[in-house]
Amino acid sequence: MVEYHPYSDAILDDPYPVYRSLRDEQPACYVEEFDAWFLSRFEDIWRVNMNFKALSSENGTTPGHLLAQDTPVNTSLASMDGKRHSAHRGLISPTFKPGAVKGLEPTIQGFATSTIESLLARGEFDVVQDYAAQIAIRTVCTVGGFPLEDAEQLLSWVNPIFERVPGERGMPKAGHQAAREMYLYFLDLVKEFKGDPARAGGLVQLLLTTDLEGGISDLDIAAYCSLLLIGGTDTFPKSFANTVLRMHEYPDQGVRVREDPALITDFFHESLRYTTPTQLLGRTLVGDIEIHGETMRAGQKVMFLFASANRDDREFENPDVFDFERRPPRFLAFGCGPHLCLGMHVARLEARLGLEAFFSRVRDFEVDVEGAERLRTEFVQGFKSLPVRFQAA
Ligand code: HEM
Repeated sequence: MVEYHPYSDAILDDPYPVYRSLRDEQPACYVEEFDAWFLSRFEDIWRVNMNFKALSSENGTTPGHLLAQDTPVNTSLASMDGKRHSAHRGLISPTFKPGAVKGLEPTIQGFATSTIESLLARGEFDVVQDYAAQIAIRTVCTVGGFPLEDAEQLLSWVNPIFERVPGERGMPKAGHQAAREMYLYFLDLVKEFKGDPARAGGLVQLLLTTDLEGGISDLDIAAYCSLLLIGGTDTFPKSFANTVLRMHEYPDQGVRVREDPALITDFFHESLRYTTPTQLLGRTLVGDIEIHGETMRAGQKVMFLFASANRDDREFENPDVFDFERRPPRFLAFGCGPHLCLGMHVARLEARLGLEAFFSRVRDFEVDVEGAERLRTEFVQGFKSLPVRFQAA
């Protein structure tokens, strides 16, 4: 029996040794306390996600919804199933298609350029908060139609949701408070935009002006905005910081990418595979599924250990080796199936433009690994801060 508990110190400190044991010895691991199955192998997670008629997101998908059960589930794309999910996703997905995302390039480039230029005189900055989060929050405001002048306020609500207090399980009080304030802000914004439609833009405008079957209330739109803000602002900075760290750790590979920016996306992907931020997400079973001689029953929960799957040697050769040239045909950092990340093309573009702006203005850089701060969390792992020192080009 593998000792596995999603909130254990072993998982918070370094989950990879535990994930390896799970994959090899107990690929479908039942934890009675949560009445939940934890899947750790790539193919199992992929196959179960494709059997989406047996899964529901309506009770939520995060550890806070399904395990700690301390987080309310709002109606938004992430918590919808079946036809309703397809209708909503069909409405907003054109905004996230590669062609539409390409149209964002000059805007995101502007965010990256102005941010890096404001940092150059310092000779040192935090990649997570000072740089990547600034690009991410402004991009989300643009896509969502949220006022850019509120970017800092919005960012200050996202961070506490993902912080953890030592000894406490799940989201701390400050996170709940921040989530509430964010939701109320969006409710007010929706009311303001209804009163003055000329001010509305982006996805908020689309949601306000489209007639969806089943209707969409102001509360639902506020929940949508929160999903977009949280989804778009938290994972990207952590992924970007890991990418910069890998360049520092693997200078031979880093130099090649610097010389040929067309390779940036491959490097970013490998970095996402190697250190996947979203440790796990899950569903409630609405039908039985057989797996490894066990039956996962309707009513129980199934959790997908994405970070483990991306290190599965049944899927990736030498998975613990960082190699940006492996270019795998599939990986699980953005999930899979009907809820596959809508923002993945946005994230890729942000990574490319963020690194291009950084390389064009910075000659040499050094990561202050000792000075970095890593979040100890069961959910989205990564750096809270990652300082870099550099010489301007
Ligand atoms: C590197 C950055 C990112 C990572 C690692 C990431 C990861 C993920 C994952 C794993 C899911 C699947 C959820 C599930 O299966 O329940 C997801 C869904 C989603 N992501 Fe991302 N994401 C990133 C960036 C973004 C960005 C930039 C946006 C928006 C601008 C975004 C918006 C969304 C939305 C709206 C969904 C829900 C889709 C649905 O339920 O149909 N994400 N993301």
